[in-house]
Amino acid sequence: MPEFTPTCEDKFSFGLWTVGWQGVDVFGGAVRPELDAAEAVHKLSELGAYGITFHDNDLFPFGCTAAERDARLKSFRVALDETGLVVPMVTTNLFSHPVFRDGGFTNNDRDVRRFAIRKAADQLDLAAELGAETFVAWGGREGAESGAAKDIRAALDRYKEAFDVLGSYAIEQGYDIRFAIEPKPNEPRGDILLPTIGHALAFIEELEHSERVGLNPEVGHEEMAGLNYAHGLAQALWHGKLFHADLNGQTGPRFDQDLRFGAGNARGAFWTVDVLENGGYDGPRHFDFKPPRTEDMDGVWVSAAACMRNYLVLREKVRAFRNDPDVQQALLDARLDQLAKPTLGPGETVATLRAEDFDPDEAGRRGMAFEYLDQLALDHLYGVRR
Ligand code: GCO
Ligand code: MN
Ligand code: MN
Repeated sequence: MPEFTPTCEDKFSFGLWTVGWQGVDVFGGAVRPELDAAEAVHKLSELGAYGITFHDNDLFPFGCTAAERDARLKSFRVALDETGLVVPMVTTNLFSHPVFRDGGFTNNDRDVRRFAIRKAADQLDLAAELGAETFVAWGGREGAESGAAKDIRAALDRYKEAFDVLGSYAIEQGYDIRFAIEPKPNEPRGDILLPTIGHALAFIEELEHSERVGLNPEVGHEEMAGLNYAHGLAQALWHGKLFHADLNGQTGPRFDQDLRFGAGNARGAFWTVDVLENGGYDGPRHFDFKPPRTEDMDGVWVSAAACMRNYLVLREKVRAFRNDPDVQQALLDARLDQLAKPTLGPGETVATLRAEDFDPDEAGRRGMAFEYLDQLALDHLYGVRR
């Protein structure tokens, strides 16, 4: 039996705000103490993570003095040096402070939008300093609860403007960093702009520096919209836009549960690992979860370790599934090899198709044999086949 011990090669990373979440929700206050960033670095490194990510204000409070910022950064950097943990991604908090009540980049108030871009640019400088490759943009407060309050087309103009300005800034500064938009359908706003992977992909095509902008899709966010996360990842990969991935667990369309990875929709998690492992993605496996409010700090670390463990367990199962000779035969029976072949051969045209002797009634009698194939997958997932 493999040990499922994570190593740096597995590229597991965690947001500082995940293990650091004190459990504040709309119905109650903090249940856990504040977690020191340096302690988080040490603990995550012990557990086998390779990276840590953060919002500016996870590390230093909003509006703090330069001296305080420097002190917090210094102790964080010392911990990074001591452990060898890297910072593959950073992001900006444009949602907590009251000034962002109507969002940052798409706030109706022009002064707020100007401040939001400036705040993101400051964090971009820090990202570059720490060697981060990806700058995530989760626009949780960019949206509306009511109709006339937001002119969506104007808001999208402003959203584009923000990415164009920040993209140009990154290029001017010589930063080798890419932006990753994180879609979410709702929460905290009633309706959030760029609600799904598909909306975000279409938006990116309109940007001035679209080659620098991709996606950071999150399991729970797509599943809140009733969508298939693994399919979304596959399409993002197809467009060359899967820059980063937020892994967690969700049980169907409801509030954003942010469960540990592997909890919630376990079957979805199996296909998620399959597409990440076999679809050509080599970025971080980033966990963005919230250890439930029921847990003390010991429970937090159990939950964090379980994210990595579940990923490794599922990776093992996915490998066994793909290597299983019965599966390989079942894939042929399900005609996956045919799907991979262009529908028309070289030089063929519609006229070639018209000249073809095809019997739709005969073809219509052939089943696709998908149920047998899927049951093999479930047998692997359920552990009765290895
Ligand atoms: C959520 C989001 C956030 C973002 C993070 C990055 O749970 O709605 O996942 O956690 O990923 O704030 O900006
Ligand atoms: Mn989430
Ligand atoms: Mn996320």
